[in-house]
Amino acid sequence: MISVAILGFGVVGSGCAEVLTQNKDLIRAACGSDVEIKYILDLRDFPDSPFAKSVVHDFNIIVNDPEVSLVAEMMGGSHPAYEFTKACLQAGKSVVTSNKEVVANFGAELLALAEQNGVSYLFEASVGGGIPVLRSIYVDLASNRIGEVNGILNGTTNYILTSMKESGTSFDDALRAAQRLGYAEANPAADVEGLDAARKVAILCGLCFGKLIAPADIHTEGITAISGKDVSDAAQMGYAIKLIGHADCKDGKITALVSPRMVPMSNPLSGISGVFNGVLLNGNMVGDVMFYGPGAGKLPTASAVVADIIDIASGKGGTVKKPHFVNATADDLADFAAYSCARYFRFENSLSEVNAVLGERAGHILCEDGYVSVITAVPMSENEVAELATRLKVCSAMRVL
Ligand code: HSE
Repeated sequence: MISVAILGFGVVGSGCAEVLTQNKDLIRAACGSDVEIKYILDLRDFPDSPFAKSVVHDFNIIVNDPEVSLVAEMMGGSHPAYEFTKACLQAGKSVVTSNKEVVANFGAELLALAEQNGVSYLFEASVGGGIPVLRSIYVDLASNRIGEVNGILNGTTNYILTSMKESGTSFDDALRAAQRLGYAEANPAADVEGLDAARKVAILCGLCFGKLIAPADIHTEGITAISGKDVSDAAQMGYAIKLIGHADCKDGKITALVSPRMVPMSNPLSGISGVFNGVLLNGNMVGDVMFYGPGAGKLPTASAVVADIIDIASGKGGTVKKPHFVNATADDLADFAAYSCARYFRFENSLSEVNAVLGERAGHILCEDGYVSVITAVPMSENEVAELATRLKVCSAMRVL
């Protein structure tokens, strides 16, 4: 029998209890023994829940109980989740989590602490919700040097952008629906302003390149400035607007950013709708690999948490290969001003003015309502874009994938 404690009985925590109960037989077969929920830590009581008797309010009961060998942290937020995680690892308990904020901010330290104490710290659910992507990177793709990763990493914003495109729903209505469905963070600003996706990019950098980038070092733009008109214009030009997390590592220097992008219909990320996420990466041996599935939501995210529980409870505990990374230093980061990619611009200029400045850099051009929309034929750096804005009236600009 493996005794588990759940920290946080919100959307994902209650989902975890549901998965462990509903699929008990499968989990027993995978682990070779039963997995029992001994405690659930929350500030609230849940008198109508079948787990009511397991609810405790004092963390010390859990950390001091030698029977609890595994703790599933699904509290959200950095504090006290970070302190509780540290205390559990120091007490010789393995920890699994869906908490991207803690992993992105403290993951390198917590992995080292787990190693020192001979236990595991696993966080499959922290990126891509229910998609089995992280273990695939650090186990199945371990023989690959990963050069680049692009992903739709936030279910809430993808749900909003899809609703705006397919049903003409307003931004606010779509966000409210995402909150009702349990996709959004407690403070949905983290979703719509791109911070949640930046935390996931940080974790992906850790696993793909061995260096955990501080979220503050990731250039981050959200989707709050995207209008229904932007979405329909993009569709007219053969693109979908998606919030894309990007990271690449060239000559040992990492570039990481999150921003809305025009994604051409030929790119498989363009077709990912609703709460679904996709992660597209390139390994130097395997080539392009894409992971796809539900990126948020109670049971999908809980499914990934339970995958980590099974990994540990079955005795594997990441013994095939544990996740490992260290904190990035300033020396690991590329100069963001030099980051180069194709661009979309909407200019409030005449076609001849645009052509005079852009010349052969202009690719696909659309003239409409006094505006000139352009997808560039060549990549342009952040510096070049800033310079362009001094010569033309740019009323909308976006990176292109
Ligand atoms: N708020 C997050 C999202 C939850 O919408 O993707 C899953 O990490």
